[in-house]
This record gives sequence, structure tokens and C-alpha cells, in this order.
Amino acid sequence: MLRRLARRSTRTEGEARVRSRSGARRHAGRFVAAAGLSLLLTACDGSTSASAGADAATGASGSASRAHDANGNARAVQGVKPIKIAASAQGGQTRAEVYAQVRRMTALGKQMFFDPSLSGSGKMACASCHSPDHAFTPTNSLDVQIGGADMRRQGMRAVPTLKYLQAVPAFAEHYHDSDDDGDESVDAGPTGGLTWDGRVDRSSDQARIPLLSTFEMASSPSKVAEAVRAAPYAGAFREAFGARVLADDDATFSAVLKSLETFEQSPEVFYPYTSKYDAYLAGKATLSAAELRGLQLFNDEKKGNCASCHISQRAKNGSPPQFSDFGLIAVGVPRNRALAVNRDRKFFDLGACGPERTDLDHRAQFCGLFRTPTLRNVALKKSFFHNGIYHSLEDVLRFYARRDTNPEEFYPVVKGRVQKFDDLPQRYWVNLNTDPPFDRKPGDEPVFSNAEIKDVIAFLETLTDGWQPGGH
Ligand code: HEC
Ligand code: HEC
Repeated sequence: MLRRLARRSTRTEGEARVRSRSGARRHAGRFVAAAGLSLLLTACDGSTSASAGADAATGASGSASRAHDANGNARAVQGVKPIKIAASAQGGQTRAEVYAQVRRMTALGKQMFFDPSLSGSGKMACASCHSPDHAFTPTNSLDVQIGGADMRRQGMRAVPTLKYLQAVPAFAEHYHDSDDDGDESVDAGPTGGLTWDGRVDRSSDQARIPLLSTFEMASSPSKVAEAVRAAPYAGAFREAFGARVLADDDATFSAVLKSLETFEQSPEVFYPYTSKYDAYLAGKATLSAAELRGLQLFNDEKKGNCASCHISQRAKNGSPPQFSDFGLIAVGVPRNRALAVNRDRKFFDLGACGPERTDLDHRAQFCGLFRTPTLRNVALKKSFFHNGIYHSLEDVLRFYARRDTNPEEFYPVVKGRVQKFDDLPQRYWVNLNTDPPFDRKPGDEPVFSNAEIKDVIAFLETLTDGWQPGGH
């Protein structure tokens, strides 16, 4: 809550009031009335003709595209009538037809997710960076991944998980959460959007980024269309999007993006809520003494205060915690000198104010801000923070515990002076968060002892999906 109060200063009263009145719109961006609504909508406006399939990528399903209830479960929301929409689809589709279309698109999206032929090099699939065995993060422990047409270009950011993205609200500069002490006029500050800087709102728009990026898949709409025409699933693609779709590169490309998005919305794969902690919240598992101590340290507002950003409790509506409030926050991660982009001393990845994101550049209050990642499945990751500088949870936890008490352990020391926050020009330091655990100074006791760090890690390990009773 402290964090929110601190951020509140960024709003003006007038803005806050306007935003809180448009509450219904805010909900539409986050919640959905029935499981798979977005899929139903997707299938509806993307009926079976080629052009409709292409339109689906820009169609009305947008506002609801990642808008599931946290459980993918039924949840009535004002102004959204999913089943009726499905039943009265303009194309006259029955619900069975709608579901069949969703199934076709999911199956196609899945095949394409693993298909390297969509890339310029022919060697890189989405799954190369987003491996299902690691919660859709890389199997290797490189800081950032290597890609491009020659498979030699280095990216500049660590790969985030693709799980639980359904809960990320669309980007808003001023976000108002009904869970915020019941006061919807509280401004939680910039929140939401996909990628580390929140620059796109829909998975289909997101998929465009790696497909076209020169340092990732380095492809083009026409190359992607060519690959689909030659793929074993070309027939299934025609069945889903119409006989003529493959004759049109742009329509094919849009349908590819849409299929990837539909696959990424499969609840059983992407948001199963099967961690030990979920079982614990449901009263079906007990946490060990170390895990419980870790949970307490994580929640304690004077110690880790982790839960103020990485929410650990059920929402008021009962939906499970996402372990992120999706706020864009500056925590002063050290510069990663191993990255090629950082050889240029004048280059800074400033997150929301650029350079990857371009709509907020020249807006100083956004510099240094990155979207708070979920901590679900974080123990399966091999590189951490937006620049992949750390490779173990222990290092991340040490950073949180000792950044301000022992800054020399994290930042370069030049002529006896610590170059604190060396990846953020000083004029943006006002953006840095100063709530616990970032409220200490040299000489103070670190936030956590080494033993406490171990406990917090034990707790974080309970957030990994696929827990079985009798497991640990
Ligand atoms: C070369 C590695 C690489 C490949 C290949 C790749 N991605 Fe990513 N992905 C990333 C990185 C890095 C980010 C973070 C980008 C940023 O913040 O600018 C990301 C972000 C994302 C996100 C947003 C996650 C979030 O937390 O908001 C989605 C969704 C996504 N990728 C889907 C895909 C899909 C679909 C494909 C295939 C079409 C794909 N990715 C291919 C590296 C990759
Ligand atoms: C003020 C909000 C805030 C607080 C408090 C906070 N975090 Fe974070 N956390 C973030 C943000 C933002 C990032 C991403 C920062 C970046 O990469 O620049 C992050 C990243 C992480 C990561 C890396 C995840 C990944 O996928 O790379 C871990 C692990 C983590 N936090 C754990 C914790 C723990 C444990 C605590 C408590 C000691 C904590 N956080 C407190 C906002 C917060």
C-alpha cells in the first residue's frame, strides 16, 4: 500500500476522478465473464472466411483478448455478455462451431509456436526462447538470447515467462484497482501491457515483434506466409481460415498471429494454477516451516515488502494471486556490461520511456520503469531481471536485501566511490522506488540475513506449477 501512496503523487485529482468513473472499461480489460470468452469472441469475429480470419487480428475481440478471470473461470462482469455474443454471432455459428474453430486455431497456434520455418534463419521458433519445460523461458542460462537471420545477433532483454499473461491488464498510465482498499480513485500509476515495458496490449501484436525483429526471428509477413504454405499444417490452416487465405500474405500473417494468441490462451497450459501455494490457499497442502517463514518475510511490510508489488493474496473476488500487480516500477537493476548494446556507454535501456518503446519517450517520469513480472514459476527461470544480469534467485534476493546497505556488492566502484544505479542517468533517480526493502542506507542492517534469503527462496519454489500431493 505504501508503494501505491508513494506513486499517487503522479496523478492529478481531476484525472483520478475521470478514470474512476470509467470503471466498467477498466474491468473489461482485465476480467471476463466466462471461461474462454476471448476465444469465443475470437472465433466469432474470425469466422471461416479468409478475410474474416485476417480481420480477427484487429477485430473486436481486442478488449477481451487477455481478459480472463484469474482462474479462467466464470465471473459475471457488467456490460459483457459473452455467451449471447457467441450464440448470436453474425455468421450464424453455433456454439459447437465456435468451439471447433477455437480448437483448430489452438492446434495451429501450437504447431506454429514450435515451427522454426517461420523464422528468417529457419532455425528459430518461439519455443527456442520460450521453452514449455521452463514456464516458457529459455533452457540455457544466457543473459539474453541470440537470434537474427545469421543466428548471431544478441538481444537486449531477458526472456519473460509466457504463463499467467492472461491477467495482465492493458497498459494504462493511471491504473485504478478495485482491490485498492476499496478506493477506486487511488492511482496505482503506470500499469500493464505486454513485454518488460508494457508497449503492446495483445498477444497477437506481441507475436509480431519477435517474428519481425532483426535480432530474434528476423522474418517478414511474406516469408511467414511462404513457410505456412509449405508447412504440414497448410491444409488445417485453410480449413480454419478459408480456402483462399494462403493466397494473401497479409491475411495469412494475421491469421498466424491470431492462432499464436489463441494457443497462448489455453488455460491448462498457460494458467493452470497448480502450484503448491495454490493448493495451500485451497487448504489442500501444508507449507514447511521454511516455506512459511519465507512467506512471512515476503509479506512483511517492514522486511521484504515483496507482496506490495508481487501480490501474494487472493483478490477480493476470490481469484488467485498473480504475484504481480503489473505495475511499472524502477528498482535500479545494475547495468549488465556483458550486453553488446551496453558497449555504447551512452546507451541506456530505459524501459517505458524507450528506446524499445516509443510512445512515451521524452516523458521523464517513465524512465527506468519495467513491468513487475509474475513470480509464478520463477524458480524455473535461469536469468533474472529485464537485462538478465542475475542467474540465481539467491543473487536476486541478495540484491533486494543488500542493495542499499552494501551497494558496492552490486555496482562498480571507481576510485573508491560506488557508482550506484549505474544503468539509470541521475536525472531519472527520482523515479526509483523508495519503499521497503529500498529504504535503507549503508550501515543499516540488511533487509534479510542469509538464512532468511534461503527461506524466501523456499517459499518462491512453492510457486512452481505441477505440484502433486506427496511431492514437496
Ligand atoms: C530470440 C528469443 C525470442 C523468440 C524467438 C521469441 N521471443 Fe517472445 N520474448 C522474448 C523477449 C526477450 C521478450 C521480452 C521483450 C521485451 O521486453 O522487449 C519476449 C516477450 C514475449 C511476450 C510478452 C511477455 C510478457 O511478459 O509480457 C510474449 C507474449 C511473447 N514473447 C511471445 C512470443 C511468441 C508468440 C514468439 C514466436 C512468434 C516469440 N515470443 C518468440 C524473446 C523471444
Ligand atoms: C516496488 C515493487 C517491487 C517490490 C517491493 C519487489 N519487487 Fe521484485 N520486481 C519488481 C520489478 C519492477 C521487477 C523487474 C525489475 C527489472 O527487471 O528492472 C522485479 C523482479 C523480481 C524478480 C525477477 C523475476 C524475473 O522474472 O526476472 C524476482 C525474483 C523478484 N522481483 C522477487 C522479489 C522479492 C523476493 C521481493 C521482496 C524482497 C521483491 N521482488 C520486491 C518489483 C518489485
